[in-house]
Amino acid sequence: MDTIENTLINQFRSPAFPGSFFISFEGIEGAGKSSQIVKIKEYLEEKNFNVIVLREPGGTSFGEKLRQAILNSEKDIHPVAEAHLFCSARAQLLTSVVLKELAEPNTVIICDRFIDSTLAYQGVARDLGVDNILKMHSIFPLNLVPHVTFYLRIDLETSLERQRMRNLPKDYFESRDNSFHTKLIEGYDLASDLFKDRIKTIDGSKTTDEVYLKLKSEIDQLLFEK
Ligand code: TYD
Repeated sequence: MDTIENTLINQFRSPAFPGSFFISFEGIEGAGKSSQIVKIKEYLEEKNFNVIVLREPGGTSFGEKLRQAILNSEKDIHPVAEAHLFCSARAQLLTSVVLKELAEPNTVIICDRFIDSTLAYQGVARDLGVDNILKMHSIFPLNLVPHVTFYLRIDLETSLERQRMRNLPKDYFESRDNSFHTKLIEGYDLASDLFKDRIKTIDGSKTTDEVYLKLKSEIDQLLFEK
């Protein structure tokens, strides 16, 4: 890794509130984020945590408007505009929800997607470059990252097969071709290399129960063994 990238990586930190944790989930279409988030929320509630599930873009009324602006867009949005929209929604979510909620002890914030989506989608698949995305995050509050990120990794074939089974209408990103989705996987792999300590890659092609057990053991390490 060259020094510029190193400097960009070192600018990030996780919010420091004793006893509270910030977790994100990442993955391409069909990776299984949503069902795992439901199960992990239940697990943490059994352990007496106050669990708040958020999604990106979204989680604030401003963020939900930006979400609609992007995902329902019939025309192509310039990738630079896209990246800034996601960052705007993120800055608002961090200051108006994440930091406030984490200040309460025993809170876990679970965020469905975060900065690694921007690295993979806009940085790599939309060709803006990972360095540019990292630079966009160099100002507070965008330099805040989760304590841990679970990347549920599946390959393109698994994603396509799961999409066929679900047979849902496709949004702005989902309707793109296979080469876009292949680049997403490359982007996530790159993000995992850059943030080795934070991002835990989990094989999302396994059964729901197998993935859940793996996640649970990672979460136990983070929350109960440190
Ligand atoms: P969503 O319906 O939440 O996707 P999923 O159910 O797959 O999580 O839509 C969010 C879409 O926005 C998704 O296709 C990924 C994309 N996205 C980006 O391109 N960049 C980002 O920074 C974020 C947060 C999401």
